[in-house]
Amino acid sequence: MYRYASFVLFLAFGIAVQRSNGTEVTVKDDNDNICLYAKLMVNFTVSYEVAGNTSATGMFELPVDVSTNGSTCKNTSSTLKLNFGPGHSWSVNFTANGKMYHADTITLSYNLSDATIFPNSASNDTKVVTAETQITNVGIDTCYSCRSVDTIAGKSVNQTLWNVLIQAFVSNNSTSENITSCAADVPVTTVAPTTRPTTAAPVTNSSTTAPTPTTTPTPTLPTPATGRYDVKPDQNSTACLIAEFGLRIGVKNVEMNFEPNGTTSSGSCGVDSSQLVLVSNAVTITLTFLNDTKKFHLHALNVTGKTSSGVAFSEANTNLSLWEAAVGSSYMCNKEQNYTITGLLTLYTFDLRVQPFGVNKGVFSTAEECFLDSDLSFLVPIAVGVALSFLIILVLISYLIGRRKSRTGYQSV
Ligand SMILES: *[C@@H]1O[C@H](CO)[C@@H](O)[C@H](O)[C@H]1NC(C)=O
Ligand SMILES: *[C@@H]1O[C@H](CO)[C@@H](O)[C@H](O)[C@H]1NC(C)=O
Ligand SMILES: *[C@@H]1O[C@H](CO)[C@@H](O)[C@H](O)[C@H]1NC(C)=O
Ligand SMILES: *[C@@H]1O[C@H](CO)[C@@H](O)[C@H](O)[C@H]1NC(C)=O
Ligand SMILES: *[C@@H]1O[C@H](CO)[C@@H](O)[C@H](O)[C@H]1NC(C)=O
Ligand SMILES: *[C@@H]1O[C@H](CO)[C@@H](O)[C@H](O)[C@H]1NC(C)=O
Ligand SMILES: *[C@@H]1O[C@H](CO)[C@@H](O)[C@H](O)[C@H]1NC(C)=O
Ligand SMILES: *[C@@H]1O[C@H](CO)[C@@H](O)[C@H](O)[C@H]1NC(C)=O
Ligand SMILES: *[C@@H]1O[C@H](CO)[C@@H](O)[C@H](O)[C@H]1NC(C)=O
Ligand SMILES: *[C@@H]1O[C@H](CO)[C@@H](O)[C@H](O)[C@H]1NC(C)=O
Ligand SMILES: *[C@@H]1O[C@H](CO)[C@@H](O)[C@H](O)[C@H]1NC(C)=O
Ligand SMILES: *[C@@H]1O[C@H](CO)[C@@H](O)[C@H](O)[C@H]1NC(C)=O
Repeated sequence: MYRYASFVLFLAFGIAVQRSNGTEVTVKDDNDNICLYAKLMVNFTVSYEVAGNTSATGMFELPVDVSTNGSTCKNTSSTLKLNFGPGHSWSVNFTANGKMYHADTITLSYNLSDATIFPNSASNDTKVVTAETQITNVGIDTCYSCRSVDTIAGKSVNQTLWNVLIQAFVSNNSTSENITSCAADVPVTTVAPTTRPTTAAPVTNSSTTAPTPTTTPTPTLPTPATGRYDVKPDQNSTACLIAEFGLRIGVKNVEMNFEPNGTTSSGSCGVDSSQLVLVSNAVTITLTFLNDTKKFHLHALNVTGKTSSGVAFSEANTNLSLWEAAVGSSYMCNKEQNYTITGLLTLYTFDLRVQPFGVNKGVFSTAEECFLDSDLSFLVPIAVGVALSFLIILVLISYLIGRRKSRTGYQSV
């Protein structure tokens, strides 16, 4: 049921974002330095009057071909102006305020004489509408990112923005890798309490250098193939660490499936700590498990590689406590799981089973299943049962007390 719902959601989102990469522009200042960067997608719905005193609706998208004439960059105020078609324009004013900047208003001018968008318009005027934005509290030297769909409804114009990546007040001629995400993009659920993301705060990707922010989410990825990996102490022994899972890696806004085919596994098995190293074409993953006397858990994860668009990344968290199970058993989680490893890295697992310690004859021991695999609804009958038995006991006690009180001296049988 839950799976189905999320699948439908996924699908709906996938259709919305599949189409193109959006409009990308840079604005340069008088010294030829980049001072404003924007990549975004906007849909407009405009209601306008046609002859006969009725209204019609014109729909159009912000085209890929735009000019930035009229854009300006100053120390504390900047304007991004995108001109397109026969006399349409879309502009945003930004104001810097110490360590933060924000967008003030969005202004759309549309030329009603454009018959391809506004056929039979009763007027040939150019109309101007303004709207408020949600682009606020963006840290200076960070990129504002919002891939979620944001609709700004107005009296005669609705604007729908998504896959937005904007940086105003760019310094040193290069856009920042630090991102300020909009509230709608911040993930709500995390699994391990130790890895909760810092909400809406700028996050740092220390290792990437190229100013190539990519916002092409690929939510329609198929379920990743399940890989089987093991670590052998030497060639002739059976495995001392075994793992199988399908893996999807989310770096910033880009998701990719980990390809088991062609992946080599290596590592080491210890008494206290075991390591699994997976090397594929694009990504190297190191998983470190700890034996904590009775239980084991995934303690550290290090993922380095390149996204499909070529952006290098290296993310690690050495303070995890995931996939916990008793030493001598295996940890299993068949349901899709996601883990926020760092502010930039999210891991999705499918059909997961691992045993990093005490492997016997190279096969998995008894599995301890994750909470999600067990049907959560089993809690409901238990709760009802407990409540019912409590009630019965209560009734019984009051009955016995009542009987005792009503006894009048002689023993009843
Ligand atoms: C934008 O408009 C196009 C068609 O003009 C439509 O296919 C797409 O779904 C719209 N996207 C959003 C997010 O409304
Ligand atoms: C700023 O970077 C752009 C390319 O990203 C380059 O064309 C331009 O010359 C640079 N400006 C200066 C002043 O170095
Ligand atoms: C804008 O959106 C609102 C709510 O979805 C809708 O009622 C209204 O008709 C839309 N206006 C235009 C011009 O499309
Ligand atoms: C058009 O309709 C509006 C009400 O819908 C009315 O107030 C206005 O007078 C009409 N204009 C003409 C030219 O008929
Ligand atoms: C935006 O900035 C431009 C140029 O600085 C200015 O002419 C315009 O009035 C501003 N618009 C708003 C809505 O602040
Ligand atoms: C708008 O302009 C077109 C051609 O430029 C013309 O045919 C049409 O009559 C004009 N409409 C109005 C309402 O002025
Ligand atoms: C990102 O932000 C941190 C602190 O907010 C700063 O130390 C770091 O230099 C920034 N990185 C980039 C690439 O701007
Ligand atoms: C592994 O087994 C092969 C024969 O099956 C043997 O020739 C080889 O010496 C063994 N290697 C080790 C390291 O024990
Ligand atoms: C794995 O890749 C090789 C070549 O790279 C290909 O021949 C083989 O069919 C692939 N196997 C699977 C299961 O996809
Ligand atoms: C796990 O650790 C305990 C104590 O450190 C040790 O006695 C036990 O042998 C270890 N288990 C395995 C399977 O290595
Ligand atoms: C992660 O792996 C990379 C490359 O193997 C290495 O340079 C980096 O130091 C590792 N980071 C951590 C925290 O282990
Ligand atoms: C992560 O998992 C939770 C449930 O465990 C789910 O509600 C959420 O939608 C998942 N997030 C993503 C991005 O898949």
